[in-house]
Amino acid sequence: KTGWTGINERTFIAVKPDGVQRRLVGEIIRRFERKGFKLVGMKFLQASEEQLRQHYWELRERPFYKGLVKYMSSGPIVVMAWQGLDVVKTARKMLGETNPADSLPGTIRGDYGVEVSRNVIHGSDSVENAQREISLWFKEHELICWEESNELWIY
Ligand code: PPS
Repeated sequence: KTGWTGINERTFIAVKPDGVQRRLVGEIIRRFERKGFKLVGMKFLQASEEQLRQHYWELRERPFYKGLVKYMSSGPIVVMAWQGLDVVKTARKMLGETNPADSLPGTIRGDYGVEVSRNVIHGSDSVENAQREISLWFKEHELICWEESNELWIY
């Protein structure tokens, strides 16, 4: 799709069931807002195994695939689309490494995670995957392309 690069680049972020259980949703949103990215879509839902099989399709041969799908469907998650310059790459930096043990303090997994199979948050690993994941989790009308307001009620 055109128009999804530069300042309009988008990434897909999901707070995983452990992140929701541990009440980290607000903290995660706060980090993305403070960084300067723009929230363009957000939903709280319990995903079906079918949806997650599609989401993690590329990992279908991995030994942890079944467990990952089961775990991700075991409780509610928050799915989000964030927009901004280089948001795919920058979000991955903000998340830290897949394994929290390799993640530096200051990153989300470095600050809040311990186990690779309970690593709090998902973020797309490429612009192409971001587009695929956003269209898997959001309908077109659920993505809101809003503009900054300069009205006086913004303090
Ligand atoms: S790989 O090997 O580079 O493809 O793996 P990676 O991209 O780092 O991870 C892909 C997703 O699989 C999850 N993952 C795991 N889940 C459970 N158990 C184990 N051992 C495991 N290893 C990797 C990892 O968190 C990634 O999921 P997302 O949702 O993208 O974070």
